[in-house]
Amino acid sequence: MSNLLDIENLTVTFPTRQGEFEAVRGISFTLGQERLGIIGESGSGKSMTGRAILRLIRKPGWVSADRMELHGQDLLAMTEKQMQGERGQEISMVMQDPKFSLNPVMNVGNQIMEIYRFHTGASRKTAFAKAVEMLEAVSIRDPLRVMKSYPHEMSGGMGQRIMIAMMLVTEPKILIAAWG
Ligand SMILES: Nc1ncnc2c1ncn2[C@@H]1O[C@H](COP(=O)(O)OP(=O)(O)OP(=O)(O)O)[C@@H](O)[C@H]1O
Ligand SMILES: [Mg+2]
Repeated sequence: MSNLLDIENLTVTFPTRQGEFEAVRGISFTLGQERLGIIGESGSGKSMTGRAILRLIRKPGWVSADRMELHGQDLLAMTEKQMQGERGQEISMVMQDPKFSLNPVMNVGNQIMEIYRFHTGASRKTAFAKAVEMLEAVSIRDPLRVMKSYPHEMSGGMGQRIMIAMMLVTEPKILIAAWG
């Protein structure tokens, strides 16, 4: 069986006024069914590695690798449409700061339901039940109240758990937690 992820010599480069800056410089690793932790000092490229795998590095930044495969498929060769299918379904990423990941003008319940329905086509009713179940799974007390709340009404820790619920609702095979 192939690895879930097979990364060889991944580099992320940004052009700057001082020349090219390598935010990630030749990282290699594989991921099977285990948990993989990447540790490094602030600014060493952990989040950029996660973003590169999800193909979320914005131009003029660019990604190169000798190999970058998701269950044997070449990630660099996938179209944006194929990537949209993989994101959420196969790989999800939880960002450090809920402020940048949650939509401030949509209530929490609708955000979780929307992701679930996008990937499964489930009815609103099914999605509602699933969203409540996910909030319970991440130990949110009073999930029915939280479903109707907006992100700014959440504490920092609740915001993070809501994001985790959102990222897990589609049952991805890989969850990237870019936690600092
Ligand atoms: N758009 C950009 N242009 C140039 N350099 C960038 C850009 N975005 C990020 N960087 C640089 O890329 C490097 C890696 O950043 P990254 O966010 O991956 O760090 P990190 O390891 O996740 O750090 P932290 O632990 O603080 O979250 C940093 O040095 C950062 O300054
Ligand atoms: Mg980071």
